[in-house]
Amino acid sequence: MRITPIIETYFLEADIDISDWDALCDAATDFKSTYDVPMNTIQYEDTALMPRIEDTPIVKEMVDNILQTVGQATSYPLELYELWGCKKQYKQSMMFHSHWDPKIHNHANLSFAFYAQADERNGNLVFPMHIYNCFIERKFTPGRGKLVVFPSWLFHYTEHEDNPEAPDRIVISGNLKVSE
Ligand SMILES: [Fe+2]
Repeated sequence: MRITPIIETYFLEADIDISDWDALCDAATDFKSTYDVPMNTIQYEDTALMPRIEDTPIVKEMVDNILQTVGQATSYPLELYELWGCKKQYKQSMMFHSHWDPKIHNHANLSFAFYAQADERNGNLVFPMHIYNCFIERKFTPGRGKLVVFPSWLFHYTEHEDNPEAPDRIVISGNLKVSE
């Protein structure tokens, strides 16, 4: 008998194929020279992508695939709320954070991380959780095309990039909210 911890219900994990990975990586990392968008909601994750959805077909393709995948697992309509790219190199990591901020009445309900460039040598995505007196750590191993969906309030971080042979880790993250 296999027992699945109930904590697994927090997450959705899927693999998504993209027609041009190089174009998606470029879109996720070269934004700042083209657009001028306030960075207040993405201070710890690098590149605002929302304005690129309509004029960058590869970003639209990714968003459509993600929304379709998430839509198959939820019983309510969701729409994209925020989208940003993040590149981490050797010796870098992502600080402990969540995507829901009560101070600014952030509407995010579900969030996701999508790996545009990464493999198992990159730092894991880690969700430390305390439930009553139990400490649980859910780790996701990076891989190109992997989608990880989680509740926006759930805190997480990434392990240090400690392998000099690993590729730069390029992740596109976003927040979804329930459609009104
Ligand atoms: Fe995050």
